[in-house]
Amino acid sequence: MKVLVTGGLGFIGSHTCVSLIENGFDVVIIDNLYNSKEVVLDRIETITGVRPTFYKKDVQDLESLREIFKKEHFDAIIHFAGYKAVGESVKKPLMYYENNLESTFALLKCMEEFDVKNFVFSSSATVYGLPDKVPLTEDSPVKSATSPYGETKVMIERILTDIGNVHKDWNIALLRYFNPIGAHKSGLLGEDPNGIPNNLLPYINKVAIGLLPKVNVFGNDYPTPDGTGVRDYIHVVDLAYGHVLALKKLSTNPGLVIYNLGTGKGTSVLEVIKAYEKATGVKINYVICPRRDGDVPENYASTTKAEKELGFKCKYNIEDACRDGYNFQKAEFERQNNK
Ligand code: NAD
Ligand code: UD1
Repeated sequence: MKVLVTGGLGFIGSHTCVSLIENGFDVVIIDNLYNSKEVVLDRIETITGVRPTFYKKDVQDLESLREIFKKEHFDAIIHFAGYKAVGESVKKPLMYYENNLESTFALLKCMEEFDVKNFVFSSSATVYGLPDKVPLTEDSPVKSATSPYGETKVMIERILTDIGNVHKDWNIALLRYFNPIGAHKSGLLGEDPNGIPNNLLPYINKVAIGLLPKVNVFGNDYPTPDGTGVRDYIHVVDLAYGHVLALKKLSTNPGLVIYNLGTGKGTSVLEVIKAYEKATGVKINYVICPRRDGDVPENYASTTKAEKELGFKCKYNIEDACRDGYNFQKAEFERQNNK
């Protein structure tokens, strides 16, 4: 089965390419390297022994996309390509709406033109907004998002639902990721954002290797057991395998399906710091700061549906993810500084 992976050199995409190859899929990547590097392709090859076909193209470029679809005859598409920085999206909404929506439109047009019927979309738990109750099930209400980034996910879910209602023979999976963290155990693939990271684990990684002095804990007065924010952190390798299971599900012609991909377990910021220290042996200094605008107190998934219908079950826990993330960050820093 030949799968187009857009954004396949990014954080989640690269791990998913590895998982797809390990499970016998034929992988073709389109990525414009906006937030990734071509060396990731070499690393996917080092890990799997297979070098996926790679096109350095923008997914919004419909003409190039048509040429690729004509040549490759895809059976399915996994669409990761997009911009994802919440804060930046508030400052540059047009850039976010344009890239995230146009890239999806171009793919959907090619699916119609070249008769491709299977589509997996990278959605986010952000579509649930401020939850009325946790754990979040797939039936929990989708709310207006708190950022243009989040709004693109809400909009694209809606667009895909409308299109699924017309194309009855299409199979579409909306995968709502919770908080993906960690890295491949080889230390070759992971997440290494430029500048000061916005997300918790990339920030802790930089503190752990000495690039930042301490973690700013955003609020300890939430209605949670220790007062700090609670999230559902999922190892990226488990998340990647969820895409293999989603493709298997689509091959049974289910139409449009929605799954939460999380662990089902909430972990507070202070618990993450403790787990990180235990897993790596590195002391993480932190300071309590005011709450961050737009943060919800508590957010974690019900995984019952994904377990039952996909057979999805996480193999790794938070400590595994902290250890793998740290090892990647350390190795990446050494590679970049030729140590
Ligand atoms: P990432 O930035 O690491 O990967 C995205 C990849 O897409 C990058 O390699 C980038 O170069 C590429 N890209 C962006 N726009 C493109 C375009 N127009 N044409 C071609 N390539 C393009 O991000 P990620 O963390 O791997 O996230 C992948 C997807 O999952 C995104 O859609 C993101 O919104 C979604 N998601 C991520 C998280 C998370 O916490 N990382 C959570 C929920 C959902
Ligand atoms: C954020 C985005 C969400 C997006 C997700 C994945 C916001 C408001 N939400 O989720 O839309 O889908 O990333 O990209 O940006 N924290 C600290 N100190 C830090 C960083 C974070 O205490 O330096 C806390 C936060 O307050 C939160 C938890 O750690 O309680 C996780 O934060 P983060 O990693 O940014 O993820 P989310 O906010 O869940």
